[in-house]
Amino acid sequence: MPIESRIPVAIVGAGPAGLMLSHLLARRGIESVVVEIRSRHEIETTNRAGVLEQGAVRMLVDEGVSDRVLREGHEHEGIALRFGGHGYRIDFRRLVDAAVWLYPQQQVFTDLADARARDGGDVRFEVTDVSVEDHLTSPTLRFTDADGEQHVVRADIIVGADGSHSYCRGLVPPAERREYFTTYPYAWLGILAEAPPSADELVYVHSDRGFALLSQRTPTVQRMYLQCTPDEDLAQWPDDRIWEELIARTAGDGFALATGTITEKSILPFRSYVDETMRHGRLVLVGDAAHTVPPTGAKGLNLALADVGILADVIPRALASGDMDVLDEYAERALDRIWKVESFSYWMTQMLHLRPDGDAFDVHRQVGELRRIVTSDRGSAYLAEAYTGWAT
Ligand code: DHB
Repeated sequence: MPIESRIPVAIVGAGPAGLMLSHLLARRGIESVVVEIRSRHEIETTNRAGVLEQGAVRMLVDEGVSDRVLREGHEHEGIALRFGGHGYRIDFRRLVDAAVWLYPQQQVFTDLADARARDGGDVRFEVTDVSVEDHLTSPTLRFTDADGEQHVVRADIIVGADGSHSYCRGLVPPAERREYFTTYPYAWLGILAEAPPSADELVYVHSDRGFALLSQRTPTVQRMYLQCTPDEDLAQWPDDRIWEELIARTAGDGFALATGTITEKSILPFRSYVDETMRHGRLVLVGDAAHTVPPTGAKGLNLALADVGILADVIPRALASGDMDVLDEYAERALDRIWKVESFSYWMTQMLHLRPDGDAFDVHRQVGELRRIVTSDRGSAYLAEAYTGWAT
């Protein structure tokens, strides 16, 4: 016999968005269960982006998740743009009095999972057979837990926080979705390397061989990315070729790339996607389940946390009134930031990546665009404001 329970909110997906929502709701007196098909270990060991906007840092600290980000993260008050063999610093502090924090997403996840465990939250990893029925009227979540016990959970609201391949999004009939997307003719090859940092801050590189990005993890571990093709075969990228390419793309100005031992390689896909139907009956979608951005600018996690901050304000009012139309306020408020971030991520991407057709006009146009940023405070202020995150 399945174990039956009732709970106000059932959340599918225990990534940072699902866990943060569960945490915020608990602080507002609302119980939830979070189910996740992956193991905690698998999520903790998957490399993800590492830049937190200051609003995300504030949320982690002020909402009592953890202040580890302040102790172990690194505040960055700027980035460098490199093109034409020269580097130019964008000074966030001076331009918009703001900063970002380098703190990998896996650590945000660990802090949230620990906080949920500390506060007695109900988070189930390694579940199977997840299904949702009747999300329009009286939602039922079914799953089998890691010990093989079957569960039937009746919830007032179901939250799909289950990533870009979302099962929950599939519950919305295609004809009722408002989907917008674009694809890009490139991807990133990402590496982790045991090496000293080559710079104090992140370096975004435009070169005639394509984009590169130097990011940091610890004094001895660095994260770097190279533009490649979407169907790139990692077997074609032995370590020597990766270093050769990174050195060539960052060359100039006496810049010396510190190399080392590559410990991980992967291909990151590029896609921009928004489904404006973020609510369907008693189902709501958050984070990558509702929208994705290309990785340039590291906005994915930040945007997911912004969604969840709005939802944690809207859900308690929907539950208190019993009127699920209150949930419509979530998309109305969230979509403003979503489209600003979609626009920013698209802009950074198209400004820094080479088109595969090698269009010479486009390369000169990009350099013109980069010049108008680095030679003018008015030009760079938009980048600084968007990168560090809009206040609202
Ligand atoms: C990182 C990833 C990004 O996509 C980015 O724009 C900056 C940094 C990172 O993994 O550190």
